Amino acid sequence: ARTIKLAVVGGDGIGPEVTAEGLKVLDAVLVGTDVTVERTDFELGAARWHATGETLTDDDLAAISTHDAILLGAVGDPTVPSGVLERGLLLKLRFALDHYVNLRPSKLFPGVPSPLANPGEVDFVVVREGTEGPYVGNGGALRVGTPHEIATEVSVNTAHGVERVVRDAFARAQARPRKKLTLVHKHNVLVHAGHLWRRTVDAVAPEFPDVSVDYLHVDAATIFMTTDPSRFDVIVTDNLFGDIITDLAAAITGGIGLAASGNVNPDKTFPSMFEPVHGSAPDIAGQQKADPTAAVLSVGLLLDHLGLTEQAQRIEAAVEADIAERSGPRSTSEIGDALAARVAG
Ligand code: NAD
Ligand code: IPM
Ligand code: MN
Repeated sequence: ARTIKLAVVGGDGIGPEVTAEGLKVLDAVLVGTDVTVERTDFELGAARWHATGETLTDDDLAAISTHDAILLGAVGDPTVPSGVLERGLLLKLRFALDHYVNLRPSKLFPGVPSPLANPGEVDFVVVREGTEGPYVGNGGALRVGTPHEIATEVSVNTAHGVERVVRDAFARAQARPRKKLTLVHKHNVLVHAGHLWRRTVDAVAPEFPDVSVDYLHVDAATIFMTTDPSRFDVIVTDNLFGDIITDLAAAITGGIGLAASGNVNPDKTFPSMFEPVHGSAPDIAGQQKADPTAAVLSVGLLLDHLGLTEQAQRIEAAVEADIAERSGPRSTSEIGDALAARVAG
């Protein structure tokens, strides 16, 4: 018998709605196994901030760290100044728990409408660096509000940080049938960081001789992602480029409601965190309109990370089958019920 200690952060907006469906499917897929889930809910996000001024305390972080994995919905709310929860809660978790591999798979399931006329076979994974780049908060502002204001956000790229994520991406490429790695950056302009990334890929490549390596500037990568997405297998890129291209990747593979992600600490020093790529969607929150599929697929990534590959595959198969039979609109919980029924049966 095995017990998974799961920390749950529903968060804001549609976060708790989609997380509830993810947990429903998790319970269903584990029926009949000897795996049980011991859940701890963490009330973090806008309500907590309004009540106490806190985003994520040292005690919260210490408590979350004792779990095997984290399931997160979304954070961010129009009543809280932009950045407070995003930086103080979500990014704080990713940084403190050393989630240096932000894994974002994109697969176009059969029968899913894509905005592309001829998408072809789309099945790639973006390995987005998760602890560095322009996200580190290394910046500042001078003379704020004056005509002479100066604002900086300095991208931090370390040899250690780039090398470990590049090596992880190579290993993932090697484990896939097509064995292809594309570095996405902008080394024609961002010469300092760009050349570090390029040299690192060149230096690690000989360890993976069967992986073919390709490079695209990020602007060109957006062209190919819309004109020829089947060319991609594994993409490795920095934190900000990875954020942007994974919303595009979601859009071409059926929309943001289907895109799952894992914030992974491959060394397992800290618990990894699984969450939909989408945000708190204040425009549809509280109306049971959100598609919980991304949260459910994130549970699949969580199970895969914990070594429960058979259960992870059952979740992906259930989503694939559900999507193939979609017709009229369904509520958030109706989609969750349908997926739970499929993984159980
Ligand atoms: P968003 O992803 O929340 O919403 C963009 C659009 O997609 C909206 O029209 C929304 O209704 C739609 N959408 C999102 N998820 C959906 C789902 N599951 N089903 C159906 N439609 C869905 O992005 P945004 O509007 O840029 O950000 C809103 C808030 O969320 C902001 O505070 C932002 O900082 C935060 N955010 C948080 C995360 C996260 O927690 N990981 C990610 C992105 C944005
Ligand atoms: C995402 C989000 C976050 C990011 C924000 C909310 C901090 O957009 O998970 O993609 O930029 O990483
Ligand atoms: Mn994003």
